[in-house]
Amino acid sequence: MTESTTRRPLVSGNWKMHMNHFEALKLVQELSYQVTRDDVDAVDISVHPPFTDIRTVQTALESDRIPFFLGAQHCHFETSGAFTGEVAPSMLAKLGVVYVIAGHSERRELFGESDEMVNAKVKAIIANGMTPILCVGETLEEREAGDAESKVSGQLKACLAKVKSTEVGSIVIAYEPIWAIGTGKTASVEDAQAMCAFVRQTVAEMFGADAANEVRIQYGGSVKPVNAAELLTQPDIDGALVGGAALEAESFARIVQYRLHDA
Ligand code: 13P
Repeated sequence: MTESTTRRPLVSGNWKMHMNHFEALKLVQELSYQVTRDDVDAVDISVHPPFTDIRTVQTALESDRIPFFLGAQHCHFETSGAFTGEVAPSMLAKLGVVYVIAGHSERRELFGESDEMVNAKVKAIIANGMTPILCVGETLEEREAGDAESKVSGQLKACLAKVKSTEVGSIVIAYEPIWAIGTGKTASVEDAQAMCAFVRQTVAEMFGADAANEVRIQYGGSVKPVNAAELLTQPDIDGALVGGAALEAESFARIVQYRLHDA
């Protein structure tokens, strides 16, 4: 696919169900000491703490003028109502959340989120002025059966149904092969690049070349300081969605600083 120099990389830390609000404050402050002005000039950084930490992290980012984007890991798609335990997109927007992960494989596999629900969330996140990070990816069985591309294109078609082509360019898509999440097994650089190019091509077929050229595509799945440079310098990989390595300030900062290391 077309290589663009205009897509800003986005490195996102998905903290999953880790860090209470004291720990979250410490992590974000430590991270702010490790990340330099040059890093922030070159790379967008988002942190996605659990819901209970978001207000604390928001206050720290604002009061210390830390230039990270605030993120969330999930939200409901309805505006309000009798949905015990859920959080509405507007509540996140009010807290200054910019990026919301939608359709992470853990939500799909462990909490029964369907493509239809993810589609509703993507639209609700956009309607509330935030940016979805839409996760797609195949299982090991699907990859071994040669079904990885059809799984990913099916997820894209269903999860982006009825999203306007003018909106698609500004969303983020994270390609996360499920077998690479938390396993220490990363997709090969060639496979990761090939699938991210395929995602871009699918977006082009669905929404046109402009949207495909603008949309940012992250790779996720065992991204570490040691493999970040080779992954993030691929033409169709515009950043990373990082799990385990985002829980420690130094390792996350070294991923953010991938461009300073040898690919
Ligand atoms: P790991 O980086 O721990 O493999 O997690 C990836 C992920 O699921 C990010 O959303």
